Amino acid sequence: MSLAQAPTPPNAWRLAPRNAHIDPFYVMEVGKAADQLANQLAVQPGAHHRRVVRLNIGEPDHGAAPAVRQAAAQALQDGALPYTAALGLPELRQRIAQWYTQHHGVTVSPSRVVVTAGASAALQLACLALVGQDDEVLIPDPSYPCNRNFVHAVGGQAVALDCPPEQRYQPTAEQVAQAWGARTRALLLASPSNPTGTSLNWDELERLAQVVRQRHGLLLADEIYTGLSFDPAYGRTALALAPELAEHVISVNSFSKYFGMTGWRLGWLVLPERLVPAVEKLAQNLYICPSTLSQRAALACFEPSSLAWYEQRRLDLQHRRDAVLPRLQAVGLDVPVAPDGAFYIWANCRGLCQRLGIAQTAEAGSWALAFALLERAQVALAPGRDFGQRHTHHFVRLSLASSMDDWQEALLRLESLA
Ligand SMILES: Cc1ncc(COP(=O)(O)O)c(C=O)c1O
Repeated sequence: MSLAQAPTPPNAWRLAPRNAHIDPFYVMEVGKAADQLANQLAVQPGAHHRRVVRLNIGEPDHGAAPAVRQAAAQALQDGALPYTAALGLPELRQRIAQWYTQHHGVTVSPSRVVVTAGASAALQLACLALVGQDDEVLIPDPSYPCNRNFVHAVGGQAVALDCPPEQRYQPTAEQVAQAWGARTRALLLASPSNPTGTSLNWDELERLAQVVRQRHGLLLADEIYTGLSFDPAYGRTALALAPELAEHVISVNSFSKYFGMTGWRLGWLVLPERLVPAVEKLAQNLYICPSTLSQRAALACFEPSSLAWYEQRRLDLQHRRDAVLPRLQAVGLDVPVAPDGAFYIWANCRGLCQRLGIAQTAEAGSWALAFALLERAQVALAPGRDFGQRHTHHFVRLSLASSMDDWQEALLRLESLA
């Protein structure tokens, strides 16, 4: 009998069952197709004037502030970069805590701040610490796809809350109260949200926190875009809720977006004090500490020159939003709710699909549109598919993080499509 025909022994290796519950990140497929096309165009004679314009990317084009780059260079010059404490450099935890006082008027003890390898690691630590097998976490639909996969990866169940445009794509207290079951442990939301760029207003956030508190649960507030708020009605951290509510809040944050440090992999958590030891133990074991180089550089994020620079970048994004929004409707991209922060526009693409003769089914819709636009206009955008189930095949996500030049070019190409 050949090896190929031998029966598989029961103890042979196999993928752990949890893998079946992790969805692929489909947006990446569009990114890969855009890269392939860009490579083809680069070697085609005469095609150099036609480049791929990318509106699919969720990272700011500005990068880190100059002082942060200088601090990184200096840290390298200084020599060895040893491990730091698992919870992060004490000076950085202190600086982050001070930022809450300066920026949000909230007192946060540095002992509650845990520096992590991006918000991604922060969310993983929180899920590992708090979500048990078959525990449920309520998550809005649409929302950032990795969040539900963090829950699934630890054996939990992400329960989708249908959040239509009338709710600014955010959950309501009534909805959460109704969906909260015996196994529910937490509500996980992002404000402003990816992919919609829309936020919860303060009263609704308070009501949500009350529902969570009454049920002895936790509010996992993904606040990585809170610094990028365009409207004074929003942009407040859930840590500023009344103390009896804030006790139930875990705030997730990041140096990736507002501070333009995506590839540096640095973020943080603000935890209720009693949860810090459990998360510290996990961090020590899972990755020892976040990058020392990135932490040393990130200290410079809070210098006045850097904060002024970041503030200017936020205003640039706001201007980009204001310049771009009025032109989308005319190309067949309808934006039911204008973003009030982050750098995403969640647009209904029925009109554009119709213009281009693309079927509006769950299998085709925005997914087919993304590939058709790559082929016909060399414009890359993110199809809605990853972000949930609710009508997501009618939606695309466009990123304001792409430069204004790219946007001008993309709009011209979309306008001239037959
Ligand atoms: C809502 C949301 N949460 C978390 C993350 C992960 O961010 P980080 O780069 O800090 O890991 C992202 C990244 O796009 C995001 O959009």
